[in-house]
Amino acid sequence: MSLLKIADLTVELPGAGARRPVLDAVDLTVDRGEVVGLVGESGSGKSTTAKAVLRMLPDSARVRGTVAVGPDEVLGMAPPALRELRARRVAMVYQDPRSSLNPVRRIGDFLTERLIHTLGQPKTVARAHALALLEAVGITRPAERLHQFPHELSGGMLQRVVIAAALAGDPELLLADEATSALDVTTQAEILAILREHQTERGLGLLFITHDLHLAAAYCDRVYVMYAGRVVEERPAADLFGDPRHPYTAGLLACTPELGDPRPIRPIPGRPPSLDDAFEGCPFAARCPLAEPECETWRPVARAVAGGGSVACRRADVTLDADRKVLL
Ligand SMILES: Nc1ncnc2c1ncn2[C@@H]1O[C@H](COP(=O)(O)OP(=O)(O)O)[C@@H](O)[C@H]1O
Ligand SMILES: [Mg+2]
Repeated sequence: MSLLKIADLTVELPGAGARRPVLDAVDLTVDRGEVVGLVGESGSGKSTTAKAVLRMLPDSARVRGTVAVGPDEVLGMAPPALRELRARRVAMVYQDPRSSLNPVRRIGDFLTERLIHTLGQPKTVARAHALALLEAVGITRPAERLHQFPHELSGGMLQRVVIAAALAGDPELLLADEATSALDVTTQAEILAILREHQTERGLGLLFITHDLHLAAAYCDRVYVMYAGRVVEERPAADLFGDPRHPYTAGLLACTPELGDPRPIRPIPGRPPSLDDAFEGCPFAARCPLAEPECETWRPVARAVAGGGSVACRRADVTLDADRKVLL
């Protein structure tokens, strides 16, 4: 049984004047001990997918499909089980640590309050636990840090504090939503290493959300690529990088310059779709170098790819042969 199993998840936000679902029939799994990437341009539905796991979607959202954590279905979960899920079983880390921290409360209060309220620890135990958590995420002089305010710490330090809080409940699943995207590269590397260290040690499932396909391919075991609220490709990370099958994935890879690569940078033409753009067929057709008229009406379905994974492109066979070069 997967640790996280999202099946046929469709999310509509009727109030927002949208012409298509925010998420459209999303299937996604994370196993215990697995690091899974979720990649796509801004607005593709990555954060909405993560929010659905903790049932943090707007009240007005119309949701179909299933989201299961272990044996438990989240969408129909009773309030006590949902509280337990959020407090202990699944933790989320966001891009901006300052959004998780109260600017006028000390770091120590943030951590100990969480430990007291969600885990029911007595104050002295919570303080010792908070110290141990800060040490575990590589924060030097943790006793001093407990007395500091968020503005006294760097972004990287604060993200460590947030990760420490996320690990406090000893979760099974960690959702990292662009958790390193706002950090400079050396700090990003430190945070990535800390996440990986704890993920391995605790056998955590990690859903690593990023707009950076290169980073996801290098860091994750398996990667999902989203476009306009749909999963367009899902592959083992190494395969995705070397042999992308969806023209969108190939386009994302061709957007980023690489040292020693003489090929020109090729931006994907057009712009990412908004919720006002509705599609009868493949949502990528309008921007796709391989699109044929039939793609405009072809409702995407995932097809298995040899070697593992799937791709939702009716021209994926073409991307297998020499023509594939037009994409890369
Ligand atoms: N609460 C909301 N109300 C209206 N639109 C929303 C809301 N949340 C997300 N959206 C829209 O849904 C789409 C997907 O958003 P999101 O999941 O945040 O994408 P990503 O994380 O990939 O950038 C975007 O077009 C966004 O504007
Ligand atoms: Mg997002």
